[in-house]
Amino acid sequence: MSDSANSMTTSMAQATMELRASGIERDGIVDAIGVLEGRNRIGAAFYDGPSWPKFRPWERMFLALQGGEQRARSQILKHLPAGNQLRVLEVGIGDGDNLPFLPASWEIHGVDFARTRLENSFRRFPSLNGRLAWAQAEELPYEDGSFDAAYCIGGFNFFGDHAQAIREMRRVTRPGGTIVVADEVTWLHRCGLGHLIGIPAIDAVWLRWLGLDREFIKMVFETRLNIKQFVAENWREAKCTRIWGGLGYCLVES
Ligand SMILES: C[S@@+](CC[C@H](N)C(=O)[O-])C[C@H]1O[C@@H](n2cnc3c(N)ncnc32)[C@H](O)[C@@H]1O
Repeated sequence: MSDSANSMTTSMAQATMELRASGIERDGIVDAIGVLEGRNRIGAAFYDGPSWPKFRPWERMFLALQGGEQRARSQILKHLPAGNQLRVLEVGIGDGDNLPFLPASWEIHGVDFARTRLENSFRRFPSLNGRLAWAQAEELPYEDGSFDAAYCIGGFNFFGDHAQAIREMRRVTRPGGTIVVADEVTWLHRCGLGHLIGIPAIDAVWLRWLGLDREFIKMVFETRLNIKQFVAENWREAKCTRIWGGLGYCLVES
């Protein structure tokens, strides 16, 4: 992003009032969740319930193997624009693990469909008061052009409606702003021995052992997302790069 664009966004952010999501606020979190269906119902139950904390250590180990959390996350966060006092949205903010790696001057907002995760983020980062929305990526509770940038790390592969989520991220980001989406490669679980020998049920056993619940595993096995094809059909403005030693992808529009 150019210097003039930076100073424009800085003055824009300074000139506007603190942004609020539309919905009713309860304990510092705006409620705009709507009806959860399909993959979003299964995903929200997983991230809200006991399975996610059980699986969490494996995610941390994956990041450690990528050279540590900071190194792994910075491969994605480096695509966000440089500048002070930007207003930025994280879609699927989870426990807020990206926040320590972002400039303190930014006004960060977060959306997640798992309320437990939002409550945890809020406990860890009280500055998020009023800036968190319990909502689905496919239905973001913000006006058009509210943010200088929007990003999503993890979770995208199993969004209920990938194309609608991208439309929403583009809608709430100002024209010329930046959108970043990253996740593990969609074929990672198909490298399991069970898939390789044509008996996926074997992989379901060790995925259960890692902490995933049955319904979530079934959804993972059934979801077919081809990132190249998705970009060609739905998001031609995005550039795709490999991250995490080829085990992840990062889509960037700027
Ligand atoms: C793997 S976690 C990543 C959390 C965080 N972004 C990070 O980098 O540590 C994925 C998060 O996205 C949320 N999520 C997944 N699909 C979503 C959707 N369709 N709408 C809103 N949140 C979603 C989950 O609840 C979860 O908190």
